[in-house]
Amino acid sequence: MEILEAIRRRRAVRDYLPDPVALTTLRHLVTAASWAPSAMNEQPWHFTVVTEKALLDDISVRSKAWMLQSASDMATSDHFRDLLKDTHFHLFYNAPALIVISATAKTQWSVEDCSLASQNLMLAAVDRGLGSCWIGFAQGWLNTNEGRECLGLPPSSCVVAPIIIGYPRSEAPPVSRKAPIVTWIGALPVDEPKLQAAPSP
Ligand SMILES: Cc1cc2nc3c(=O)[nH]c(=O)nc-3n(C[C@H](O)[C@H](O)[C@H](O)COP(=O)(O)O)c2cc1C
Repeated sequence: MEILEAIRRRRAVRDYLPDPVALTTLRHLVTAASWAPSAMNEQPWHFTVVTEKALLDDISVRSKAWMLQSASDMATSDHFRDLLKDTHFHLFYNAPALIVISATAKTQWSVEDCSLASQNLMLAAVDRGLGSCWIGFAQGWLNTNEGRECLGLPPSSCVVAPIIIGYPRSEAPPVSRKAPIVTWIGALPVDEPKLQAAPSP
């Protein structure tokens, strides 16, 4: 798949088939993630792949409870409070797999490094016909001692990106993109920029 096609087709998928994702495919995604650039080539990422349903359910319940008692903007919005209180709302949308990208230690650029690895992983998923979604709601609890313990991560680690993976049951509804704010300094390029802003649906 062309890289621009993958970029445009990657969407936050929130509706999954129960079909499992093959081990070789999960390995392929991790390998693609590990080809991301990183500051001083530190490659500080650690990948924890969770396919155990009971653990996914448990993380969902605990992360929702943690979010509700946190003082974040999300937890104070009525919409999100109602969602988090809803026992039927699964934080991972019943996706069959969760790949948690964590930094082995929180250093100056480890969050940036892990975020770049995340985007690689999500683009590689599109290429394999898979959907993905970064679940920021799970980050808070997974970064507690209890959360890290449930993933077998050491206390020094920092959870950056919990990403769900699975085969989409339906297409993600269209979302718009704001026109990019660009400041051009210096001579304007003669050629048309290849990546145009996405048109609003
Ligand atoms: C850091 C981060 C955290 C996110 N957290 C959540 C989340 O907790 N739950 C969710 O459903 N989507 C989450 N998303 C997905 C965004 O809502 C989604 O990317 C955005 O609405 C744009 O839609 P698109 O990815 O389909 O283009 C998160 C995305 C990012 C980058």
